[in-house]
Order: sequence, then structure tokens, then C-alpha cells
Amino acid sequence: MKNARATVDPAFVIGPVRTRTFGSFVEHLGRCVYTGIYEPGHPTADAEGLRQDVIDLVKELGVSTVRYPGGNFVSGYRWEDGVGPKEARPRRLDLAWHSTETNEFGLDEFMTWCAKANVEPMMAINLGTRGVAEAIDILDYANIPGGTALSEQRKANGAHEPYRIKMWCLGNEMDGPWQTGHKTAAEYGRLAAEAARAMRQVNPDLELVACGSSTSDMDTFGSWEYTVLGEAYEQVDYISAHEYYFEDEGDLASFLASGDKMSNFIDSVVATADAARAAGKHTKRINISFDEWNVWYQKSTPSVPPSGDDWPVAPVLLEDNYNVADAVVVGDLLITLLRHTDRVHSASLAQLVNVIAPIMTEPGGRTWKQTTFHPFALTANNARGQVLRVAINSPKVTTAKYGEVDALTAVATYDEVTGDVVVFAANRSVGDSLELSLNLGSFEELKLEDALTYTNDDPYWQASADDDTSVLPTANASAVIESNRVSVELPAASWSMLRFTSA
Ligand code: AHR
Repeated sequence: MKNARATVDPAFVIGPVRTRTFGSFVEHLGRCVYTGIYEPGHPTADAEGLRQDVIDLVKELGVSTVRYPGGNFVSGYRWEDGVGPKEARPRRLDLAWHSTETNEFGLDEFMTWCAKANVEPMMAINLGTRGVAEAIDILDYANIPGGTALSEQRKANGAHEPYRIKMWCLGNEMDGPWQTGHKTAAEYGRLAAEAARAMRQVNPDLELVACGSSTSDMDTFGSWEYTVLGEAYEQVDYISAHEYYFEDEGDLASFLASGDKMSNFIDSVVATADAARAAGKHTKRINISFDEWNVWYQKSTPSVPPSGDDWPVAPVLLEDNYNVADAVVVGDLLITLLRHTDRVHSASLAQLVNVIAPIMTEPGGRTWKQTTFHPFALTANNARGQVLRVAINSPKVTTAKYGEVDALTAVATYDEVTGDVVVFAANRSVGDSLELSLNLGSFEELKLEDALTYTNDDPYWQASADDDTSVLPTANASAVIESNRVSVELPAASWSMLRFTSA
């Protein structure tokens, strides 16, 4: 056992808890849509084929925004294929995932699902094979009240009120050579600026996201953001960041420290955006939409799309089965996003159902929760008010990828209205538990309501459809509070939430 100290003070404000930090992502990929959120004939499906059992879990997860319809998929997508009478919708090749897209589910079905799941849509447009004209068309269809061919078409399709979708992604991962219609930074920056300019002529108050880097490991990372913002700074509000984390060759120590990689990525994007601001003599700041993040074992076989003449409908793809260490990392990545709430204004756990997802479904059958469901749900449902920096004094752990890192990471939230204080913490040591002394001395007297810890003697333990309550975080019996000083043992490779209310 090693000792760590931490202090939480109401004066250490980083910024507000943003509901959009708890966003997710639904792509036409594998079984995310088909037999995921949409399955006509499923016992819980409504008249439109939307699975109620999945909607219930989405609500329990506490998801705020949902990005749609991709992902790599969007770069070849024709949105108009997915609206109107279903029997007239064309089947198309989906080049991104070597699948057949039936277009049974499209924009209108997604918006109905968002209303039922109580989430905000975040729509991505195709800037791979398409451009400015189609960007205006989808906006016209979605947001214009009536009186144009496309808005009247929406009404005829059953949606009488405009959707008024606010947040739009200008393409997806356009820096990636794998992307259909991949572009150089200068080419993409010009296109994004022109698409944004035209879209703002339709709806001036949109919130627009330009594509940043697909991972901080890209050779173009940094120069890509600087060039794109050089072209599009005034037209956009956010630059995106995408990154997936995984354990490499049994290197659990580095994997548990993935939050440091995300943190460095965010700091670098902020520095680059601010450099573009200075160079262009702009006054506003560009913030980050971290709209794809998660653990993803990209090298595993089902991540590779089919090939050849086989273009299946909704094949099993990217259905990673998460273990306890993955959940600890997801919890720590959320701690990292909250610690950057001053500049990360939106984030999306990629993805939501079946595809690298916290929620799994059986076609025609049950749903179940992956290990990663729990830290996400607890954070999304308990982080409220202001995000507070936690001053940490922690033993170090040595990692092959990131050198020496703190074993302890933590962040706190403080709701001034209710007086609730919540501390989220991770012990990223593979072998040592931590005795944490937490000082909350600057708050009015607090009582400890919950002390939940997620861990397992076997960090590689995975949940399955047959496990349910056994995978929940459990009460941490070691936690005691006296005069706003808390002592709690954080087991090796664990994630915890401590919730306090006014005494
Ligand atoms: O989320 C899976 C894929 O990862 C997305 O389609 C793409 O944007 C990213 O590379």
C-alpha cells in the first residue's frame, strides 16, 4: 500500500460541467443501427422499429448528445437515400465498412429516436464525396420550417416541425488516407470554410465542428489543425479530436495511463488553435469537440471489414468485449475530459450500441451492459455544477510509453445549489493499492453519501450477456470521513466515485 494526498477546494474552478461532455455516437456500422437501436419485430420495438430496451439503457447511461450517421460511413453517404417511403429507398454500397446499406433507417428515424431517447442530435455532413450544395440541402430539409421543396418533403414525410439541429460536423476524419474523398489540410480547410459559410447563410446560429486529427499519432497532427483553422477559423466554433486507446502487447501499465496521452493531445490542440488565433488576429477562441474517444482493440479480427464480393447487411463488426481495466481507463478518460472542461466543450464516446459500445444487444433478444457502462453512467449522472481541479500528491508509476506518471488521477465537481461535491478518482497502478487522504476542509461540513469503487482481482475479467448486477461498482467499505477529511483505500487498477452532501 502506498500513500497519496489530494485537496479539493471550491476556489479551484476549471469551468462548468458541460452536459455535452457525455455525448455518444451512432454510426451506420455493423450492428449499431440495425439490430442495435433499430429492429422492427423485436419484442420491445415500437411501431417505428425503435428498440425500447435500448432506449431505456441509453437513458440510464446518461447520454446527452449523439453524433450521427458517421464516422467513415458519412463520407460516402447520400442522406436523401434515407428519407421518404421505405420501399422506395435504394440499397447502396457502403465503401467504408464494405457493407450494404439498406437505408431503412435515415434522418427522420434518427430524429424520432433522439426525441424518444431524450438526446441532442449532432449531425455530420458528407464532405468526402460531396460538398457545399448537399450541405445546404440537408440543412434545408432538417431546419427550414416550410415553403421550400426540401422542407415540404420533410413535412410530407411526417415531420411537420423543423428539427432545428444546432450542432453539425463538417465531414469526418478528412486527414485519414482511409477516408473516402480524403483531402489535404488546405483542400479540406477551404471546403469546410465554404460549406460553413453557406450553412450559416441558412442558420447563422449553428455550432460547427471542423475536422481535426484522427489521432495524435498522425504524421500530419498539428500542421493539419493549423492549416485547417488558417482557412476556416472565423466560420467554425470547434475543432474535433479523435483517439482510441488499447493495451499493447500486455503493457497494462501504459494502458492504464492512457489519460495522459489524451491530456497531451488536448493541450496540443489548444496550443495549435490558439496559435492560429494569434496568426489570424482573431478574437474568439476555438474549442474542442472530442467527438470520438474510447477503448478500441483495432487490431482484432472483427474490426476488419469484409472484402471481395461479399457486401453484407449489418455484419458483426467492432464488437469489442470490454474488461475491468478497460472500464478503469474509460473512467480515467472521463476524468481527463472533465479536467479540460475549459476547452473541451463537447465529447462523444464512440460508439453507443454494439460497435465498441457500452450497450450490447442480441438480435431479437436481450440487452446487456459492458464493464465500461458503469464509470460512464456514474460520471454522467453525478457530475454537476462546476468542475474543480484536485491538487494531487501521488506516488509515481513507471510506464513503457509515457515514462513516470502519477498513480492517482482525480477531478471533482461542486454543485453550489445543492452543496453536493463529487470526487472521481482512478488508481492507475497495476500492483499497488493507494491509501488516499482527501482534504475537503474549505467546504461547509460534508457527509459521505456514496463511496463506489470499480475493480476486480482479475483486471481482464469481462462481462457477458449472462452477468448483470455482478459487474456493478461496489461500496468501498474503507471510506471514512471526519471533519471533512476522508481516508479511503483505492485498490490497484481501480476507478472510484465519492459523493458528498451537506451535513
Ligand atoms: O468509430 C469507428 C470509426 O473510427 C469511425 O467510423 C471513424 O471515424 C474512426 O476512424
